Amino acid sequence: RRLVRVDDGDARVLGLVPATEPDMPSLRRQRDELRARIAAGRSDAVRRQHSNGKLTARERLGLLLDEDSFVELEPYRRHRSDGPGLAANRPHTDGVVAGSGTIDGRQVFVYAQDFTVFGGSLGEAHAAKIHKILDLAIANGAPVIGLNDSGGARIQEGVLALDGYGGIFRRQVEASGVVPQISVILGPCAGGAAYSPALADFTFMVRDTARMYLTGPDVVEAVSGRRVTHEELGGADVHGSRSGVATVVHDDEETCLADVRYLVSLLPSNYLEVPPATAATGAKNDHRPRLAELVPVEHNRPYDMREVFAEVVDDGEFFELHEGWARNVLCALARIDGRVAGLVGNQPAVFAGVLDGPAAQKAARFVRFCDAFGIPLVSFVDVPGFLPGVEQEQGGIIRQGAQLLHAYCEATVPRIQVIVRKAYGGAYIVMDSRSIGTDLSLAWPTNQIAVMGAEGAVNVLHRRELAAAADPAALRARLVADYTREYLNPHYAAERGLVDDIIDPADTRAAVARGLAMLQDKRKPGPARKHGNQPI
Ligand code: HXC
Repeated sequence: RRLVRVDDGDARVLGLVPATEPDMPSLRRQRDELRARIAAGRSDAVRRQHSNGKLTARERLGLLLDEDSFVELEPYRRHRSDGPGLAANRPHTDGVVAGSGTIDGRQVFVYAQDFTVFGGSLGEAHAAKIHKILDLAIANGAPVIGLNDSGGARIQEGVLALDGYGGIFRRQVEASGVVPQISVILGPCAGGAAYSPALADFTFMVRDTARMYLTGPDVVEAVSGRRVTHEELGGADVHGSRSGVATVVHDDEETCLADVRYLVSLLPSNYLEVPPATAATGAKNDHRPRLAELVPVEHNRPYDMREVFAEVVDDGEFFELHEGWARNVLCALARIDGRVAGLVGNQPAVFAGVLDGPAAQKAARFVRFCDAFGIPLVSFVDVPGFLPGVEQEQGGIIRQGAQLLHAYCEATVPRIQVIVRKAYGGAYIVMDSRSIGTDLSLAWPTNQIAVMGAEGAVNVLHRRELAAAADPAALRARLVADYTREYLNPHYAAERGLVDDIIDPADTRAAVARGLAMLQDKRKPGPARKHGNQPI
């Protein structure tokens, strides 16, 4: 060997190389051919993937990311296992396509499990690639998106696969509150693997193909004798409407991945970044007379709070989370006057908007997400109280309600409360009242803030008089009217500083937009401590 100069036209490299010059065009051709072979995958497995109604990992990344933005890392990685059937079968990528790319020009880190390679199962090398992606996302302050389609721990790699999962979970917890984490389930996601989406901030699922459970139907039958289908046990609708594990559910992969792009457009890349604002939309002077028509004055008539959201936010557009779960409370991301805001709202169209355990948990997690990523909160209140009942009490509504209370109390982002109609009892306090730290409380003239509704209050306060009355119905009507006049109006709370302003409903959008502008520089350092102990 001697020192020579190698000049292949576009690269000049000096180093210790063999005296004979390498054939660079041929080396490049070999590399390109190998990359093309890796990208193409096994044709029979790709056909099977398509015939199962699923796209391949690379097709999915093509839909998720901006065109030609994907930079792949470690495409040549292969496992080192000599487990049964593995030693002679060492496919490149090891079943996960990983790297970075952009969404609307903003950087994200991604990995997509490739079911055509060992059923997307996770072994040592596969896990190491995901670890790297999570590490890079944290270090670069960019969102991380995982596309899951996997048979779980690669059985032949045994405990190394379990170790790989542990490394993912640990990094996800490290990334929590640092960068947004999105998990998309596009096939099986079984066993402990399901804890990865559970640790993410948002989990998307696709109907029919996605399934997520700790133990599959066979184990369930063996243990309990009950036969269930994959869909019944862990399909998208089950997780989207009953367990609350899925944040968003879609019919097909294309719309699902398009929706992930939309969500990313509303999120900051990391906790230090201001959420991505667009140009102001003139909301501060926007008068919306329809708002007054949307909400019936009678406190027990239902209406759809989503219509109120649509009047308040820019372009009537908001991204609703957990649309099918705990539908008595609404959580959504939107822009108001160009600024991203997190909306929480009681939903009088479902169970009269009462707060129960799942609703409290749904809102609590959302409030915590918004607070972690600097997204201001706007809470629309129309709540009759917490749901009474044996099931609720035994199910832990005290603990679950406390989660929401804790989340709001801890939130240091700008907070605006809009009391649309009624706000009773503990639910009034919990829905971001002045006492737990809202920055700006706005009330419609029709609002009723009170310990309880008039009928209930009169029953408690005047039980003996009512029992002794010659005409109890007439007395009750008079007492209800007195209570309503005295307590169920916004002035009682406003005079005592619990409400900042009583606004014309038509000015709600303008008042919220002005409030968000007023609070844009809010900074509120928390007390010194390791961390609070939220009642999870
Ligand atoms: C190794 C696996 C695999 C796995 C699938 N494959 N899962 N290889 N380890 N976990 C392989 C199959 O052998 C097959 O290889 C190929 O992937 C496709 O799988 P099929 O069974 O043909 O596909 P399909 O009929 O669509 O069924 C998909 C499936 C099923 C439902 C996921 O493969 C399955 O039940 N797999 C096992 C699931 C499981 O029990 N995983 C472990 C969970 S415990 P060939 O060569 O034929 O193409 C776990 C613990 C994690 O994950 C704990 C973390 C804390």
